[in-house]
Amino acid sequence: MICRRLSPKKIVEKWVDFARRLCEHQYGNSPRVRINGHVAARFPFIPLPLDYILPELLKNAMRATMESHLDTPYNVPDVVVTIANNDIDFVIRISDRGGGIPHGIIEKVMDYHFSTAEESAQELSNNNLLTNITNSGNQSSPMHGFGFGLPTSRAYAEYLGGSLSLQSMQGIGTDVYLRLRHIDGKGESYRV
Ligand SMILES: Nc1ncnc2c1ncn2[C@@H]1O[C@H](COP(=O)(O)OP(=O)(O)OP(=O)(O)O)[C@@H](O)[C@H]1O
Ligand SMILES: [Mg+2]
Repeated sequence: MICRRLSPKKIVEKWVDFARRLCEHQYGNSPRVRINGHVAARFPFIPLPLDYILPELLKNAMRATMESHLDTPYNVPDVVVTIANNDIDFVIRISDRGGGIPHGIIEKVMDYHFSTAEESAQELSNNNLLTNITNSGNQSSPMHGFGFGLPTSRAYAEYLGGSLSLQSMQGIGTDVYLRLRHIDGKGESYRV
């Protein structure tokens, strides 16, 4: 269960590849992802929560990027992942330029079952640039649709003594901060 020398950069890269493939399948292109910060960090950790949370956050960032650039799908801004490691915890920030989360829904995005998938499925099916969408008419897709990604990711992070928080810069993009305690960190002991 525990990986003795987990590299946050490597595990981020694994899920970037996965999310980009889904995104390309759905939107015909995907944002590039730059990873910076403590890219050489390695420490003992449990990969399982990251294997759940990272694809959810990356899918959200890529979806927002693509849907806010429907007129220029082949020229979209990068997603940037920043890793910060310290004695107590480590932080993974995922920044996108997908327009942010509108004021009117920011209070709801952490609710189970809240999703804007329905409206975007409609917008997308009206957009003839994106001809390779196979699921128009269907409200959910591998990229989004159940409204479970954020609330379950937050629950998972909090269960492990960490946190998941959002900062939306409406009109520009969103920063999501995933914070997780080291298993050998000082302070509260860790439940496994
Ligand atoms: N990075 C982001 N930029 C803009 N909006 C976002 C971003 N992340 C989440 N959202 C908004 O929050 C809503 C809820 O996100 P959440 O991941 O919980 O559900 P979902 O992506 O709709 O479905 P799924 O359960 O498949 O993840 C999304 O529908 C979207 O409107
Ligand atoms: Mg999601």
